Amino acid sequence: MESNRVLITGGLGFIGAHFVHHMRKLQPESHLVVLDKNTYAADISRIQSLINTQNFTYVEGDIANQAVVNSVFEKHQPQQVIHFAAESHVDNSIAGPKLFLTTNVEGTFNLLEAARNTWLKEAHKLNEGFKKARFYHISTDEVFGSLGKEGSFNENTNYAPNSPYSASKAAADHWVRSYFHTYGLPILSSHCSNNYGPHQNDEKLIPTIIRTALTGQPIPIYGNGLNVRDWLYVEDHCTAIAKVLTHGIPGDVFCIGGNAERTNLEICTYILEQLDKLHPKVDGASYAEQIRFVEDRLGHDFRYAIDATKIKKELGWEPQHSFDAGLKKTIQHYLLKYKNLS
Ligand SMILES: NC(=O)c1ccc[n+]([C@@H]2O[C@H](COP(=O)([O-])OP(=O)(O)OC[C@H]3O[C@@H](n4cnc5c(N)ncnc54)[C@H](O)[C@@H]3O)[C@@H](O)[C@H]2O)c1
Repeated sequence: MESNRVLITGGLGFIGAHFVHHMRKLQPESHLVVLDKNTYAADISRIQSLINTQNFTYVEGDIANQAVVNSVFEKHQPQQVIHFAAESHVDNSIAGPKLFLTTNVEGTFNLLEAARNTWLKEAHKLNEGFKKARFYHISTDEVFGSLGKEGSFNENTNYAPNSPYSASKAAADHWVRSYFHTYGLPILSSHCSNNYGPHQNDEKLIPTIIRTALTGQPIPIYGNGLNVRDWLYVEDHCTAIAKVLTHGIPGDVFCIGGNAERTNLEICTYILEQLDKLHPKVDGASYAEQIRFVEDRLGHDFRYAIDATKIKKELGWEPQHSFDAGLKKTIQHYLLKYKNLS
């Protein structure tokens, strides 16, 4: 039987790399192609164990370059695209929004065009060999904007992006949707809440708390620390993506969340209590004394929460990690990574 060919963009990033390993285990026969620009957010060591193995190809390239994207499609003829590649850090989007337009919007457009040209004989008619093709855009819950104290996002929530990052992801979502309705491109997409786990970039909240704590620096918390996010362990996001990819029907959209709402301050306090136990300071002081409230992020969304009923009911997905268990694993990882910096 001919093996499946899968293109994973952004496979050197935090979630993409976890997903590459997940797919390798789920589909050992499939040819996986990772396309990644190798930006500051990438780390090739995340997938080093797969480089130079059978059925695996890594291509360093920019999705914002149509010629690069076309050549990957021409050479590898992927039947499935799981599109993670993006500029993903909100603070960077505030400091320099243009790159978010280029990568997140134009990059997605280039992939859609290459998929359209490769998969479709004409609108709504797939070529032989691509009958089960899927284009899966990994979106975010941030496209829905900010919630008040009550309520949660679901698949019918209106778009209201508030940052250049979320605006670029929302724009990409709209392009993806339009290719389904106009051309019949078999698309899937999902909106997930904040991911956490090992191998996340240093700049993100949880690694920042642990790194600054262990190196004796001020631990920065935006505003009053009361902004609320829902958190999902990265491996649970990967199992959800795999379910959507396998069982989703073209045009399907799912919201994915961990049912674990926490304020930034709660997360910080919990982590520091764990560090006090696992790696006590020599002077016996608590790491909590290093917390410093810093000027709030511009346009900082107050609260995100996800109603994941649809994916649970329709696809039988459930997260396997409680927030407590996932965070403990995560803390162990960063403790090992950062403790020698102190
Ligand atoms: N991290 C989260 O909490 C979260 C939550 C929901 C959705 N998402 C979405 O999931 C996806 C992955 O997020 P992440 O946290 O792993 O991001 P990340 O920043 O860790 O990784 C992004 C990867 O994309 C690559 N990339 C960036 N620009 C590129 C370009 N022009 N061409 C090719 N590759 C490029 C980077 O090199 C990097 O390897 C993103 O689309 C993000 O919007 C993330």
